[in-house]
Amino acid sequence: MSSIEVIGGEQLKGELKIQGSKNAALPVIAATILNKGISRLKNCPKILDVIHMVNILEELGCRTSWDQNTLIVDSSSAFVTHVSEDSVRKMRSSILYLGAILGRFHEVTIAYPGGCLIGKRPIDFHLNAIKKLNVTQEFLGPDKSIIHCYTNRIIGNDVFLEFPSVGATQNAILTAVLSEGVTRIFNTAREPEVTEVCNYLIDAGARICGKGSSFIEVEGVKELHDVEFTLSPDRIVAGTYMAAVAATKGDVVLLNAPGRQLDSTIKVLKRIGCNIEVTQEVIKINNKQRPLPIDILKTQPYPGFPTDMQSQLMSIFCVANGMSTIVEEIFESRYQNVPELEKMGANISLEEEGNKAIINGMEALHGAVINAHDLRGGAALVIAGLTAEGTTIIHDAGYIERGYENICRDLTCIGARIRYCSDNA
Ligand code: EPZ
Repeated sequence: MSSIEVIGGEQLKGELKIQGSKNAALPVIAATILNKGISRLKNCPKILDVIHMVNILEELGCRTSWDQNTLIVDSSSAFVTHVSEDSVRKMRSSILYLGAILGRFHEVTIAYPGGCLIGKRPIDFHLNAIKKLNVTQEFLGPDKSIIHCYTNRIIGNDVFLEFPSVGATQNAILTAVLSEGVTRIFNTAREPEVTEVCNYLIDAGARICGKGSSFIEVEGVKELHDVEFTLSPDRIVAGTYMAAVAATKGDVVLLNAPGRQLDSTIKVLKRIGCNIEVTQEVIKINNKQRPLPIDILKTQPYPGFPTDMQSQLMSIFCVANGMSTIVEEIFESRYQNVPELEKMGANISLEEEGNKAIINGMEALHGAVINAHDLRGGAALVIAGLTAEGTTIIHDAGYIERGYENICRDLTCIGARIRYCSDNA
């Protein structure tokens, strides 16, 4: 894995274009299995997770190619209904192929995706939803870790999600699109990435209503057709760079930014002192003061404050003018950055139940040699390095490349002193 060197102290200034959305691209790439034809996905980010998902398409028999940032998929030749354990272990989002392969072939074999450092990441909600659609499930292998689902007919039904899970909502929709009858899904996730996969499917001829709400209805259709679709910009990448501007008292314009999907993040950044202006696809943000603390910040399902922005706000709170408390309500262990931030002089304490972090802001952090442990945590350590006095080396920075096309290129564009470096730096 690569490392990143950050020399702190620069105030970020300038203009930056936001890449396409990772968490929209992944479910849409899985969904391309369903139209048995051509999909042209424009504004598709070239990131590790997308590369993995495309490799799995090829494993399934699809043909893929790139034309700049447009991913072209021909799924007419797909014939394989199992996803290899190796592929699933490499990237847990491959579980999104569960619904897509089942929806098209009425059979799928896929390994249980492992957990990761932010949590156990079970898929019980996915399986309970799909079972309701006349699907038989069996668990194979010595440790029952291979899921085999099959049916002769997928029949629409009412599905009640125990929690507004993004992935479970997407898998239920993917399974129901080519089914017989109507599937009504209750307590669906409202994240923009659920809306995005619905928009792609509707453009391909699916009949879906209620996208973006807590109730989605899918009327099964016989088939879908070729489609050209433009992926939205990445709201978490945009939010990450906004947090970097807030932390460095910068002044930046983000182009091609999904302002309307960032309401809760914008509200929080305004509370810490930022001035933010949002027009159609442009976000202007500046911060002229040391960040203000927030007494309690809780992560919530959309449209609440996103868990994927929690680590980035923790980095800001480390240098805020007072004490802040974060309550992580979505994942059970999303505080992997705490020991790394403490190496930089941060003052953070975790409550025993593990989902509450209390951060006492310091005047400044100091550079250190630290390690990234996950995607968003790694990006948040870059933000800490940007504010720190001196040089920070972040090892295992490869995690960041899973979701950011090139964080060093992007931040250098707006004045950061940051570069990839060798692992033994
Ligand atoms: C999606 O993960 C995102 N990933 C995550 O982004 C994001 O943090 C998460 O939604 C929440 O917004 C993609 O879109 C590829 P969930 P997902 O199902 O679908 C529990 C990033 O950094 N749960 O909404 O896996 C689960 O353990 C990533 O880009 C069950 O218990 O999230 C978690 O505690 C990180 N059983 C909570 O629900 C299930 O069957 C929310 O998970 C499913 C989920």
